[in-house]
Amino acid sequence: MNSKITAIGVYVPSKRITNEYFEQFIETNNEWIISRTGIKERRFAEPDEFTSDMCVSAVKNLLAENPGVNLDGVDFILVGTTTADQVMPSMASQVQNAFSIPNCGCLDIMAACAGFVYGIVLAKGMIAAGTHKKILVLGAETLSKFTDYTDRTSCILFGDGAGVALIEPSDQPKVLNGITGTDGSHGKDLYLSQHNTLVNGEQIDPNGKIHQNGKVVFKWAIQTITNKVGELLAKNSLKLDDLDWVILHSANLRIIEAVATEINYPMDKMLTSIEFFGNTSSASIPLAWDLASKAGKIKPGNKILLLGFGGGLTYAGIIVEV
Ligand code: UT7
Repeated sequence: MNSKITAIGVYVPSKRITNEYFEQFIETNNEWIISRTGIKERRFAEPDEFTSDMCVSAVKNLLAENPGVNLDGVDFILVGTTTADQVMPSMASQVQNAFSIPNCGCLDIMAACAGFVYGIVLAKGMIAAGTHKKILVLGAETLSKFTDYTDRTSCILFGDGAGVALIEPSDQPKVLNGITGTDGSHGKDLYLSQHNTLVNGEQIDPNGKIHQNGKVVFKWAIQTITNKVGELLAKNSLKLDDLDWVILHSANLRIIEAVATEINYPMDKMLTSIEFFGNTSSASIPLAWDLASKAGKIKPGNKILLLGFGGGLTYAGIIVEV
């Protein structure tokens, strides 16, 4: 059974945080942040607004903006997140409860910034196996609640947001072949821990905040993602010219520009959300998709390559036709 994405929805908190905000407590400035990351602003959730709330708001927006779409028959919910409200219950089960969806499997995916694309890869497989028919895939993060505001190399990056895609069976293959992979030897280069544990044999900081070895992740991302775009195209017997758009995880505009240069692809066909929402981890790809849709860029029949990457270090990619 083939599958397709039949609707998407997003949500971002209303509180806008400009680059100048960070000048109050760390040595930084607007010019550095824009030139080194591409970020102009990001959104922060309120103290009483959590990842599950944003998941529910994204689904509500999906329903409001897609007349005729409903949640009847949704039989699985997958939520990519590393910033869940709590360890259990899962964010997926909170969404199930908010919409009283009966007979629905619920699972959170902990694949950091690749979580949303991992969800699409899994949903495609579940529909192909014939075990499920209507799946909500979300990517949602409240990174602002897990940010170390004394670390100027990371705190300026993160923002909060959520996105959701509805995936259903299709006559034609609209969700094409995906790829997934991980290099766990880089686990210590991007982590969030509340326990005094070892990662890759090294003691990590248990303060419950995101730690990133920015330079290492930056280089890994450019090299890995450049290679994986080619692998993903080959796996689908497609060429770059067959694509209408590419959406890489919006981690840093310089990573996206470097990959575009490496693969010789025009930057104006790389869709991003980094400028307005910062690095929103698993939400960044649906946010970029939504921005481009609302700007009238994405049209029916377009082919889009999605590639997420992040903590693990892990990645997942897939090509979809809308
Ligand atoms: O989402 C998951 C995947 N994550 C990523 O892919 C993120 C990958 N990494 C990055 O995006 C970048 O490495 C960062 C944005 C985190 C850092 O950018 P960079 O160009 O690698 O900067 P850097 O760490 O090499 O620092 C360059 C300089 C340093 O000063 P010196 O040593 O040259 O004097 C830093 O201390 O910039 C300094 N610096 C800052 N200056 C002003 C670092 N952070 C800041 C800051 N404001 N916020």
